Amino acid sequence: MAPAPIFDVIPGPVVKRVIDANRKQVFDAVEAAYRLHDSGATLNPASYFLLYPDNPNARIIALPAHLGGEVQKSGIKWISSFPENISSNLARASAVLILNDASTGYPLACLEASLISATRTAASAALAAEHISPNPFEGTLAVIGTGIIARTTVEWLMFRNWKFRKIKLYDVDQTEAAHFSKWLGDQFNLEGQIQDKLEDATSDSSLILFTTTTLGPYLADKELFAQSPTVLHLSLRDICVNVILASQNIVDDVDHCLKAKTSLHLTEMETGNRNFVSGSLVDVLEKRFKLDHQRPRIFSPFGLGVLDIAVGSFVLEAAKSSGEAIELPDFFGNSARW
Ligand SMILES: NC(=O)c1ccc[n+]([C@@H]2O[C@H](COP(=O)([O-])OP(=O)(O)OC[C@H]3O[C@@H](n4cnc5c(N)ncnc54)[C@H](O)[C@@H]3O)[C@@H](O)[C@H]2O)c1
Repeated sequence: MAPAPIFDVIPGPVVKRVIDANRKQVFDAVEAAYRLHDSGATLNPASYFLLYPDNPNARIIALPAHLGGEVQKSGIKWISSFPENISSNLARASAVLILNDASTGYPLACLEASLISATRTAASAALAAEHISPNPFEGTLAVIGTGIIARTTVEWLMFRNWKFRKIKLYDVDQTEAAHFSKWLGDQFNLEGQIQDKLEDATSDSSLILFTTTTLGPYLADKELFAQSPTVLHLSLRDICVNVILASQNIVDDVDHCLKAKTSLHLTEMETGNRNFVSGSLVDVLEKRFKLDHQRPRIFSPFGLGVLDIAVGSFVLEAAKSSGEAIELPDFFGNSARW
């Protein structure tokens, strides 16, 4: 009889230790997952949204995926977004990732996944930023929406050795921007200049990060991007159709991004076509189209489940070899058929 599978639990502090100690490998795992997705060695069906009619700000999303190549694991991330949490200093997002053995289908592990999710998002943003920005980059970073994804993205930009002349911060809640500014000082000895208006943050900024929780677009003035910046549009719903149409648009996966009332989805609904999307991040890495530095270049990643599998699988293997995984050998008490 095949041995009963062992089920592991990986708590958040272990996830953090593994990621902090292995940033280069995690960054490479994210890039490798994008490339596997591009080559057809993944399964990444549409995400499934649990929405609450009486609480439209909240949602829980299921992201099932399979990653082939050397990883050969399947799984699902189940991630909640409750933006009102932040008023009681509770993170907006919470998540678990279940990884499955791709040959037996058995669940292998449950990992705390809010950091895995933030990490794969931030690492992919840093990867995109370095490939769609002018080289060398010398300029100002603007952070619009100064929460956890912004913080994680700045950590990954710093890991990739970005240098900024200035960092401007804008948040509808200035106390959030003040927390972020203090964190920048404590962590990196950098100064964050808090702005009163969105246009003050974007003007002259060459890299603009959108990490808000807005449900609908508000940035309608093309002049805010007059300097043709690199835009990391991680929150997906900030930029109005006219500005999307005036920019070069790069996605992680076009079918995923043009869904769920993202700015790109609204643009498709208004124009009836997808011609405004130049291509994917892997198209950029492979130089399959020419970047246009005379226009804003907007990276809008929907966030692929295969990235969670890639980072989660790395974390699981590292935690098992360091003895930090919590093994539950009898979790599957009924695995013998007879
Ligand atoms: N594309 C992806 O793969 C991906 C992955 C993870 C998270 N996200 C998105 O990133 C966003 C940020 O997540 P987070 O965990 O950092 O959230 P968070 O709640 O920690 O921070 C969001 C911040 O944005 C501010 N904000 C809200 N609306 C604003 C507006 N119109 N202008 C300026 N500031 C505004 C809030 O005050 C808050 O400080 C969310 O929309 C989330 O869905 C995207």
